[in-house]
Amino acid sequence: MAAQQIQSAVVDIESSGVVVTRDAARLDEVRLADTQAVIVTPGGRSDWEFGLAAAVERGAFRIPRKVLSIRHAEEAAHVLEAGLSSDGIDFETRVALVDDIADLAARLERLSRRAGIMLRIFTEAPTELCGFHLDTVGPRLPPFGLLKIYNGEGTRYVLAADVTAMSAFYAYLGRREGLSAKWRAACVAGQAMEAERWRGEMCALDRSLPFLRQGSVVRQVPAGAIVAFRHLDVREHWSAHPVGRAWLHCSPMSGVPRLVVNLTPLGGGAARPD
Ligand SMILES: [Fe+2]
Repeated sequence: MAAQQIQSAVVDIESSGVVVTRDAARLDEVRLADTQAVIVTPGGRSDWEFGLAAAVERGAFRIPRKVLSIRHAEEAAHVLEAGLSSDGIDFETRVALVDDIADLAARLERLSRRAGIMLRIFTEAPTELCGFHLDTVGPRLPPFGLLKIYNGEGTRYVLAADVTAMSAFYAYLGRREGLSAKWRAACVAGQAMEAERWRGEMCALDRSLPFLRQGSVVRQVPAGAIVAFRHLDVREHWSAHPVGRAWLHCSPMSGVPRLVVNLTPLGGGAARPD
């Protein structure tokens, strides 16, 4: 198959399981059957968001990968105040960011109808380590999560209707993970030629995306959007479940450092970072 085309999200795909809207009240619609994601696009950017993006992109504001357990959304602001660096951003920006993430925590509790949030947060430049995948939650947890990328390139995704079969997707995923592991091992061992060989195979696989129907496109979440998306119960991972059971997505693989915030119901599990 030829290299996949990347398109921005558009509203005419609502019937295919992805809702794109300006209305944050619609995030709960991710609970509806056959809905994989609700993408709430921002109306505009505030001054604090411009300041935050600039601080992240020049490396002044950095957050090493961390996982924060929040028992109730009301505690989110307190946990974040204690856990976030104040270097590189001014007081007002930090307060606005904490409030924004606390709002996401409250939204997740509402849509998952369950107290407790696992919050993953980090600033990092995208890498080629991870290709298309789905996120999982622990057994019997509400299969929903929220994602917000504050700056830089948005997450890519495909529509369920464009996937030929989960068996084809898992064949891709297994091969992708194997190539990524070999690439990393060769890098660690200082085997530059081997590393380049595995990386080349990995990139070719990501260009072809053999689990997609001919003519399908890869779509992209707009910068600053909030995404509510359907996860998979970890017990179903690698099984022959319906394609629409979870949102198939992928981080960009290059570009500026981004601030990534990912929230899932608290209680264990193995969700992917973004
Ligand atoms: Fe993910």
